[in-house]
Amino acid sequence: MKKIVILISGRGSNMEALIAERDGGRLPVDIAAVISNRPAAKGLETADAAGIATRCLDHQAYAGRAEFDAALAACIDEFAPDLVILAGFMRILTPDFVRHYEGRLLNIHPSLLPSFPGLHTHQRALDEGVRIHGCTVHFVTAELDHGPVVIQSAVPVLDGDDEASLAARVLRQEHRIYPQAVRWLAEGRARLVDGRVVLDATLVDDAVLIAPSLR
Ligand code: GRF
Repeated sequence: MKKIVILISGRGSNMEALIAERDGGRLPVDIAAVISNRPAAKGLETADAAGIATRCLDHQAYAGRAEFDAALAACIDEFAPDLVILAGFMRILTPDFVRHYEGRLLNIHPSLLPSFPGLHTHQRALDEGVRIHGCTVHFVTAELDHGPVVIQSAVPVLDGDDEASLAARVLRQEHRIYPQAVRWLAEGRARLVDGRVVLDATLVDDAVLIAPSLR
C-alpha cells in the first residue's frame, strides 16, 4: 500500500476529506503523518483524533526558507512516503525541496489553473467576471501553482456570489477531486510521464469534473 504524508497550515478540510475516504475504504493509502508549519493549525487536532502521527515545524523558528525546507524534508523523509500531499500548506517551497520530491509532490489549488495562481483566487475570479471557476490537483514544480494537472473540477460563478459563497462551492469540489487524484496515483491508474499526467483510458471521462448545476 502506498504511503502518504500530508502537509497543512490551518483548517485541514482537504486532509479530512482524504482521511474520510481512507476510513470509508475508498482510498487505499497509509496516511503515515500530518505535518504543519503552524502550531495552531486546527487540522493537527483532527489528525491526532484520527490516530495519525502529527508533527509541527514552526517556520518562524528557522533562519530562512532554505533552513526550514531542509528540516521539513528531513521530517517528511523519516516516514519514507511515496507521495507528499500539500493540503492548504501555505508556504512557497524552495527549488531544492521541489526537486527532492519531483514526481511525488501534489498540490490542490482553488482555481482552474493556469488561471489565478497565487492567493485570493475567488475574489479575483469575481473581479474578472468569469462564468466558470473551480479547482485543480497538480504535481508541483518550482514555479508557483504550476505543474502537470491530474484532475480539475469546474463550478459556475453565479450572479450574487460573493467570495465566501464561491469559495464554499469550490471547496466542495476540492473535497471530491483530491481523494480521487490520490486514489488514481496510488493505484497506478494515473502516472507522470515526460512532464504530463497520463491516465488509464477508463478514466478519461472522470478527469474533468463538472459541478451538477453546470450540466
Ligand atoms: C483550500 O482552498 C486549498 O485549495 C488552498 O487552501 C485551502 C485549504 O483549506 N490551497 P483546508 O485547510 O484544506 O481546509
